[in-house]
Amino acid sequence: MKINPLTCSIGAELTGVNLADVARDKTLFAEIRALLLKHRVLFFRDQDMTRADHVAFASCFGELEDHPVANTVPGHPGLIEIYKSEKRDHFENTYHSDASWRANPPKGAVLRCISCPEVGGDTIWVNMVEAYRNLPEEIKSKIAGLRAKHGIEHSFGAVLTQEEREELVRKNPLVDHPVVRTHPETEEKILYVGPFSTHFINYHTPENVRFGQDKTPGASLLLNYLISQAAIPEYQVRFRWQPNSVAIWDNVATQHYAVSDYWPAPRRMERATIKGERPF
Ligand SMILES: [Fe+2]
Repeated sequence: MKINPLTCSIGAELTGVNLADVARDKTLFAEIRALLLKHRVLFFRDQDMTRADHVAFASCFGELEDHPVANTVPGHPGLIEIYKSEKRDHFENTYHSDASWRANPPKGAVLRCISCPEVGGDTIWVNMVEAYRNLPEEIKSKIAGLRAKHGIEHSFGAVLTQEEREELVRKNPLVDHPVVRTHPETEEKILYVGPFSTHFINYHTPENVRFGQDKTPGASLLLNYLISQAAIPEYQVRFRWQPNSVAIWDNVATQHYAVSDYWPAPRRMERATIKGERPF
């Protein structure tokens, strides 16, 4: 296996690996797991594997989960379709950590490209450990202990009817997570807010709010400032897809952005999502 880091901050391409073999090779799995914790997103080319192989590889990392809005690939629980058609339905172009609106958001995902346009539709991943580490000290002390609500409604709900939206929220109520979470395996601190974050729940203290009117602008400016950190190129890697390219990412330590520049060309991806634990 050859390891080719793609930036100084995040991402490595591994060559000489057949992902279909990993589920039967404990040593190879341990090596890939360690590299994932180090590089945060790993890329593989020419992985002509079956859906069962895809699910088996992802399952080495833990139990898989489906998605309340995206379709599951028929006959393959744990594998969801991310199919973009000639309709204007390309909208994953925000920096986000997948499903942070869950009480236990996924710890990782394995995404395989089935078909894609010849050019366009890249994905960007961001190292949110670096994003936290480079924050000014005064911001770090201001956000220590702060918690934010995360919700599914204001993103996935936008394409649903009122009834469907209410049902979605009933099944997926708002959850709150620490703004700075700790990686359960590496113990690194991670900036953990994004487009699913709606507001802080414990900002309204005498230190932060002198008068009632301070609450909304102070908190929302700070939240928007934190969310904007994911857009800094020094924390990023950008990957160009080909059919049978695979990416696996640490969904705790990273965010990603699906560049939506290829409409009306179609793009077909399939994702296995690995269950995670309650952020702390
Ligand atoms: Fe995503």
